[in-house]
Amino acid sequence: MAALQKLPHCRKLVLLCFLLATLWEARAGQIRYSVPEEIDRGSFVGNIAKDLGLEPLALAERGVRIVSRGRTQLFALNPRSGSLVTASRIDREELCAQSAPCLLNFNILLEDKLTIYSVEVEITDINDNAPRFGVEELELKISETTTPGFRIPLKNAHDADVGENALQKYALNLNDHFSLDVRSGVDGNKYPELVLERALDREEEAVHHLVLVASDGGDPVLSGTSRICVKVLDVNDNAPVFTQPEYRISVPENTPVDTRILTVTATDADEGYNAQVAYFLEKSPGETSEVFELKSTSGDLTIIKDLDYEDATFHEIDIEAQDGPGLLTRTKVIITVLDVNDNAPEFYITSATSSVSEDSPPGTVIGLFNVHDRDSGQNAFITCSLPENLPFKLEKSVDNYYRLVTTRALDREQFSFYNITLTAKDGGNPSLSTDAHVLLQVADINDNAPAFSRTSYSAYIPENNPRGASVFSVTAHDPDSNDNAHLTYSFAEDTVQGAPLSSYISINSDTGVLYALRSFDYEQFRDLQLWVMARDSGNPPLSSNVSLNLFVLDQNDNAPEILYPAIPTEMVPPAELALKPKQSPRHLVTKVVAVDRDSQNAWLSYHLLKASEPGLFKVGCTRAVRAHQRSPAGQRRQSSSQAGPRPRQPSLRHCHATPGRQDPPTSWPIWAASSPPPNPTIRTSLCTWWWRLGGSLRPGLCHRAAGARLLAQVTPDAGFRRQLEACPARDFVAEWGAGFPG
Ligand SMILES: *[C@@H]1O[C@H](CO)[C@@H](O)[C@H](O)[C@H]1NC(C)=O
Ligand SMILES: *[C@@H]1O[C@H](CO)[C@@H](O)[C@H](O)[C@H]1NC(C)=O
Repeated sequence: MAALQKLPHCRKLVLLCFLLATLWEARAGQIRYSVPEEIDRGSFVGNIAKDLGLEPLALAERGVRIVSRGRTQLFALNPRSGSLVTASRIDREELCAQSAPCLLNFNILLEDKLTIYSVEVEITDINDNAPRFGVEELELKISETTTPGFRIPLKNAHDADVGENALQKYALNLNDHFSLDVRSGVDGNKYPELVLERALDREEEAVHHLVLVASDGGDPVLSGTSRICVKVLDVNDNAPVFTQPEYRISVPENTPVDTRILTVTATDADEGYNAQVAYFLEKSPGETSEVFELKSTSGDLTIIKDLDYEDATFHEIDIEAQDGPGLLTRTKVIITVLDVNDNAPEFYITSATSSVSEDSPPGTVIGLFNVHDRDSGQNAFITCSLPENLPFKLEKSVDNYYRLVTTRALDREQFSFYNITLTAKDGGNPSLSTDAHVLLQVADINDNAPAFSRTSYSAYIPENNPRGASVFSVTAHDPDSNDNAHLTYSFAEDTVQGAPLSSYISINSDTGVLYALRSFDYEQFRDLQLWVMARDSGNPPLSSNVSLNLFVLDQNDNAPEILYPAIPTEMVPPAELALKPKQSPRHLVTKVVAVDRDSQNAWLSYHLLKASEPGLFKVGCTRAVRAHQRSPAGQRRQSSSQAGPRPRQPSLRHCHATPGRQDPPTSWPIWAASSPPPNPTIRTSLCTWWWRLGGSLRPGLCHRAAGARLLAQVTPDAGFRRQLEACPARDFVAEWGAGFPG
């Protein structure tokens, strides 16, 4: 039929005429049947007996059979009923393929008459075949740049049936990019073609899955499908894209070298080589490119040189990403360097004085300095301090300038030198600090007068001293320095009691040693009151004076002199001495009067030197010779007097003896002789005395003979004095009071 359609119109008419002629012929001498294919075996095809005009029974008798030329018998005769039936399954497609109509011709022989009849059976088509594609899975490749309208021929389908049951049409599933066009070939076949309707984008959809359906016109319609897989081939139509339009990171400046600080990533929507991204650092002149390194394969950005916030607070680098064929993108990396407290504060002493006068008023500026920290922010926030308890303070001025000023008056005599430690500490965590030392000399001012160690001095010089003997020495002290402490000694007055002082005593102006200029006689000259002045060499000079009392000490250089009674020149006693007879005991016979020109050595004791009858007379304590018992008349008696160290009662101003193990030496005439000082190492341990000195008790070793009783009777001699001198001088320091008894 398909072929028929293609024939020109006149040809169709000719063919129709021919067919009509055949049908007519069959009516005349040929039997014709029609049976659909695939019918069951034994199915009725036609009634031969009837069509031949014979009785069915006669048919068997007449020996009827089918004659065919070497073909498998498809039909059989039922001799009894005289009908033609199918002998097996009949497949039209097998017998006739695509040709139509499918006619089978055979002959029926009547053996009895040897008559031949021609039978023609038409096998009619049933839709027992679906269209089938030769390739059920088709893979196509198409570049993503292919322009719409492009056609790709597809494999066509085949349907073994004919006519309406043959392949009628193709259909493509609904999709966005492709349409189907079916072209009819000159052979009458239909050729499906894929037409690109819309541009492809591999990055959007890399594979398109299509289904092509071929269907016939049977009832029901049968169809076959072919799956088409369209792979879109990549074209490098995408440049790499960074994950961020700009990278911003902050890095502490102490980040070690070789630390990876960032990884930049660019993706390329293409595939394969087109998507192979490499990274490059754009070299720009300057230091930045030497600080960082970019790994071209991974995009890792590392530090290759130490960062320094103080040099650069941020770095800006350009980075390129390039894909295989060379499309590139650029991005910027901004690296902010974070300050780390890696710089200690620094001092800049703008000016500082090395010496300040001790009389400078509080608030005197010692120095001006500046502190600076190379860090920033809190790390550069500096606080300055100096040790407490120093007479200085810091005054903050503008721009981290500080003034070091005094807070009170200085005293060189207390501290002559200051090593002032200034500490600057920044606000970092942990904080860093720096010390600076300001050395300050306190310059001396003559603000101290010389001072004597005592408010007044007393010196004792034994009479009959040699001329030029050193008598005493005074020392003053001046805490100032140099000239301000260089002292000269002099007498404050030139005269004493109207007489020039220079005739008595002199002083060495450098040493303060006093020298006697004459030999003193106690009996004529007992004390001298002087003012000694010490003066420093400051400008103006300062001076102070001290009183010095010089006492001349008595020495026993005068023997007693008996004034009364006169030393008898004859044996006749004076009238007063005449004793009346029977004089009762304790009768005053006479008074003996003696004097001694010494003073301390002028205590006199009396005793009888010689008596004719012992015990008859006695010298009484009233310094008179008394009759001790009745004395025989005419008896001679004589008294003698001897001067002894009379225990006078000096008022001891500093020293009061209190009872120790011995009687207290309530009197002590000798100790003044202990000047010059005795050798304290000699200890003639004999007795212990307790002395109350300035409120405390002190033991003093002294000679047993120092007892008051003994002293009253002992004639001082050199040996006794030496023993006393062996006593430590300090235990015997006492001063003669003003009321020294004469
Ligand atoms: C000042 O003091 C500091 C620390 O106390 C010390 O290192 C420095 O030597 C001192 N300077 C002087 C001159 O004494
Ligand atoms: C001793 O010094 C005082 C003041 O310190 C002064 O008043 C006095 O006059 C001075 N005496 C003499 C004798 O210079």
